[in-house]
Amino acid sequence: MVRLLHPPRSVGTTVPLVSRTLSADWYCDPQVYARERDAVWRSEWLMFAPGAKLSTPGQYVAEEIAGYPVFVVVEPDGTLRGFHNVCPHRAGVIVWPGDGTAGNLVCRYHGWAFGWDGSLKSARDFGDDPGLCPAEQSLVPIHVERWRNLVFVHLGDDPAPLADEIAPFAAECAPFDMESMTYGHRLVRVLRCNWKTYADNYLEGYHVPLIHPSLNRALEMSTYRVDVPHDSYCIHRSDTRDGSPAGGAWLYRYPNLAVNVYADGMNVERIVPIGHDTTHVVYDYFATDLDRIEAMVEMSNVVLDEDQAMCEVVQRNLDAGIYRVGRLSPRHEASVGWFQGRVATAVAGSTTAAT
Ligand code: FES
Ligand SMILES: [Fe+2]
Repeated sequence: MVRLLHPPRSVGTTVPLVSRTLSADWYCDPQVYARERDAVWRSEWLMFAPGAKLSTPGQYVAEEIAGYPVFVVVEPDGTLRGFHNVCPHRAGVIVWPGDGTAGNLVCRYHGWAFGWDGSLKSARDFGDDPGLCPAEQSLVPIHVERWRNLVFVHLGDDPAPLADEIAPFAAECAPFDMESMTYGHRLVRVLRCNWKTYADNYLEGYHVPLIHPSLNRALEMSTYRVDVPHDSYCIHRSDTRDGSPAGGAWLYRYPNLAVNVYADGMNVERIVPIGHDTTHVVYDYFATDLDRIEAMVEMSNVVLDEDQAMCEVVQRNLDAGIYRVGRLSPRHEASVGWFQGRVATAVAGSTTAAT
């Protein structure tokens, strides 16, 4: 049973006026995470992979999202298919986690073979079992769609089309020629903290002068602000210290997608829970000139080192049982309130629906 130490806040199309944080148990309690697996991670379109990793027949990407191992594969005719990476026989994997190319879909454990639509084609050397109904032994599908040069998945039932769901966020990205950028590199970092601990940190610039000296030197922090123009995303803005405009868009789409896009490159960052206390931060880098990518990765690593150190110590403090609820800065942390409100509303809705 999820304990709501304060009721969920209503979230409108403007920044909600919230002053309190979520309570510490939202970041520590495995039962909260268990509710989020359905209320958040099976209820939203989630960026999954760069389109370049899923462009030719047989290419696949397999990854775990909040305890759901899933994969997306390109059929011989170019169609994208996605499934839970869980065999109906005894829960083996169809493809090993990571990416690669598969000529067919054969379970790695005992060799059951499946069609590209997930239906069972053969149960290798199984023996005579009149009770085995092939129609009941299919892979469990997930929804897959492309948006520009990214592939998204949805793990729930009957989602609205991605194009509808992403439209307000897409409008912010429209000025940028993402398709002219080549995919270049992936960086994965494992953080020992709840996914929201890192997301909260991403969503405010209040901490920049304290823990990011290089960013603080580059940005005019008195102009830094984070706005929530729509219930689905927020946007960071800041002038630079040398007076030049930052020239890009720094966007965060609920629940876990950050896109930092410029005229000549972008990094796409995802915050992916692996458990209630472990989070993968995954960066995918794109650029018109791949020589730029090394510098982009170097910059991310510096900032990520600084954020990781703070998020992991914050998590240990949340776990310590001393902190219960904090207050959010109306000047700097309204976007944190927006994000926490969305999670709380989603979890409360799912709890209500389950009772
Ligand atoms: S678990 Fe897949 S064939 Fe046995
Ligand atoms: Fe930071």
